[in-house]
Amino acid sequence: MTARLLLVEDNRAYVENLREIFEELGHEVRSVGSCSQALEVGRAWVQVALVDLKLPDGDGTTLAIKLKNENPDCEVILLTGHASVESAAEAVRAGVWAYLIKPTPVPDLLSTLDKAVRHVQAQQEKRELARRAQVAEKLAAVGTLTAGLSHEIRNPLNAAGLQLSVLERRLRKLEPSIQAPLLEPLTLVRDEIRRLEHILQDFLQFARPLHLSPRPLPLGPVLEKVIAFIGTDAERRKVKLEADIGQASAVLGDGDQLRQVFMNLLLNAFDATREGGHVKLSVEQQPTTIEVHVDDDGPGVPVEQLDRIFEPFFTTKSTGSGLGLPITHTIITQHGGTMSVSRSPLGGARFTVSLPRAPHQS
Ligand SMILES: Nc1ncnc2c1ncn2[C@@H]1O[C@H](COP(=O)(O)OP(=O)(O)O)[C@@H](O)[C@H]1O
Ligand SMILES: [Mg+2]
Repeated sequence: MTARLLLVEDNRAYVENLREIFEELGHEVRSVGSCSQALEVGRAWVQVALVDLKLPDGDGTTLAIKLKNENPDCEVILLTGHASVESAAEAVRAGVWAYLIKPTPVPDLLSTLDKAVRHVQAQQEKRELARRAQVAEKLAAVGTLTAGLSHEIRNPLNAAGLQLSVLERRLRKLEPSIQAPLLEPLTLVRDEIRRLEHILQDFLQFARPLHLSPRPLPLGPVLEKVIAFIGTDAERRKVKLEADIGQASAVLGDGDQLRQVFMNLLLNAFDATREGGHVKLSVEQQPTTIEVHVDDDGPGVPVEQLDRIFEPFFTTKSTGSGLGLPITHTIITQHGGTMSVSRSPLGGARFTVSLPRAPHQS
């Protein structure tokens, strides 16, 4: 079981020693030498932090409390050269996972770490399952409501549109000099009615249960089509759109639905970058899955919003619907895949879609 580990220790030699051991085991390791640097990395990234008790700008116990405040799922292992009953008691009060005395025998350190990692990952999995169940429930409720409401609105709207064209025909029979001032507001009303019809269409599409027709589908052409389709948007918005699709293998899926997924993610990435921004679509083949990353160099998703962005109608945009990510999430879940958000190597947000690979055809 590999994890993201943060080493907070100002003894360089000791850090390098631990880093080597942990990286050998496949863990992802970051190291810093002070409390303030630890809090910078800390946030959502870290799963287990190994923290020295005495740091140049503070003590490890206080840091443990702050790290756990920002990231309740993470666990802290305190390391100290000079154990005392007071510091141990304080560590327990701070809710640290373990309190070890340096130099700790490597097998002891590793078994403590292993237990902490298992605990953190079980905790995160539980939270993710609860979140998904909550989103699914909310989606179902919202779906029923919007479908009902949209149908109810549609009928009077159709009637109004029809009466409006009757009115227009009658107006056009009048003297041209009185026609113009009457036609102008009429045109405005007609445009607004059209706009409402569009919105209703979006809502209905969202509310309609998805009908998937899954078949073995090479992902490459799906992604290429999306890139071709969306390229003009990128140009118009002066965003540099890069694609590294390679030899993406096949998934079991529905082409139309998957295109919608990557359109949504790319449009969000465009929205997040400024003019001259950078957006990248890339594919990573894993043994049983294919991962597609959508990266941008925008501001990223603030930690406190990470839990909310998949909720229907959650949006931070003045013209957003807040339906893009919930739709995307539903489609991916129906494909047996998963979605996650992290920090992009480009500096902004990274949305990763992971889809099971199609079984080989014989
Ligand atoms: N690439 C991104 N970078 C930063 N924030 C994002 C990104 N993608 C989505 N978000 C956040 O998630 C919210 C919900 O996205 P979405 O469901 O697609 O709805 P909408 O795009 O209509 O706002 C956005 O309003 C934005 O705050
Ligand atoms: Mg969107």
